Amino acid sequence: MNYSTNLPAILGGQPAVTLDQVEANRWPVLTEDDEKAVLQIMRDGDISTHPVIRELENDYRNFSGMPYVLAHCNGTTALTAAFWAIGLKPGDEVLVPSATFWASVLPLVWLGAVPVFCESESERLGLDPADMEKKITSRTKAIVVVHLWGLPSKMTEITALARKYKLKMIEDASHAQGALWRGKPCGTLGDISVFSLQGGKLAPAGEGGMFLCREYEYWERAVCLGDITRIMELETPARRFAATSFGIKTRIAPLSAAIARNQLARLEDNNKQRNHNLVYLSAGLEEMGIHTFLSPEHIQRVYFEYLVRPDFGAIGMPMGTFIEALKAEGCIAALPRYPLLHQQPFFAGGAFLDIMRPTDGARVPDYSAVSLPVTERVNGAMMKLPSFPWASQELLDQYLRAFQKVITHADQIVRRPG
Ligand SMILES: Cc1ncc(COP(=O)(O)O)c(C=O)c1O
Repeated sequence: MNYSTNLPAILGGQPAVTLDQVEANRWPVLTEDDEKAVLQIMRDGDISTHPVIRELENDYRNFSGMPYVLAHCNGTTALTAAFWAIGLKPGDEVLVPSATFWASVLPLVWLGAVPVFCESESERLGLDPADMEKKITSRTKAIVVVHLWGLPSKMTEITALARKYKLKMIEDASHAQGALWRGKPCGTLGDISVFSLQGGKLAPAGEGGMFLCREYEYWERAVCLGDITRIMELETPARRFAATSFGIKTRIAPLSAAIARNQLARLEDNNKQRNHNLVYLSAGLEEMGIHTFLSPEHIQRVYFEYLVRPDFGAIGMPMGTFIEALKAEGCIAALPRYPLLHQQPFFAGGAFLDIMRPTDGARVPDYSAVSLPVTERVNGAMMKLPSFPWASQELLDQYLRAFQKVITHADQIVRRPG
């Protein structure tokens, strides 16, 4: 396709993107059906324990095929419950990515467990199995897999490692609602799998989280941790904890559960639309040498967020200038929004020790010395573009034109007078 080579806006030309982008990027979309569902709960008057919570869990059971599901007040709490449920103890080590949202990792520190940061690979942005294997010790007990931005991780290799070393796998599928890996839904690939239903997610509730597993014992431990309705209903000896739980409260609010049910029902259609737009945009960007993380054949990715990797060497322009030039064209473009965890003051500055009082024999990493060169390079080369859930093809073509203008004038843009 010829996107024309008009003068870039940063050099005084006309911006390529003129169409409205607010509606094209509106998310989440709350419909009249969502309003009705929330109103119904309010009219029913039971705003703490309404049966809609169990209906939501049933929906997720049907959606995933996982037999045990427990709704939580957010994804962070569902992850906390997952770490608790697999029985992590002080000093246990858990292999984790650094390139993720903090909630994939930090709750495990509250159990005294030790996050061991591993490299993320550059193809699918998940944990790098080769680096993971190097970091396994006799203390390693679990793995946290995150399908970053909706791109399923390298599960064949990671699952093989988990089997070989008898490690539990927590799957944080918060970005990957609706994604498939070898035909299997993300959210069914771990010993325990978790979705966040936070407002920006693909099937949002406002605040909410889902905990899914195949083993009754994990579910029961999650119930005991903080679902005060369910503990009282247990028919096992664990019911003896009904008067106290294990100290936190994890139940989802019914108003959120009502929204979550509707959003899950619309997930497939919404994902289809978003994928249609971003696969189209990606095809055009790939022609210009920009890597867009299109799904390999055995995977059906989704797009929680849309990150791409331009080849700045080939383009001949540094990231900052590229983003500046695209913004001048009217594009929305930014750096990725997750800073790498191992570099944050909580780890590199030692603040985690305030929570994690190391037990005898625990290996406490000096996080300030952790080096993840591949992750650091890959993360630093990514650029975030809008997810375009509702963009018209015309708007996507305007983006492609903007990229083409900027790339074909890279020399002049870099040498422009400051
Ligand atoms: C990968 C990932 N895991 C966990 C969470 C935490 O979920 P919540 O915000 O629902 O607590 C989020 C984001 O919100 C996330 O992006």
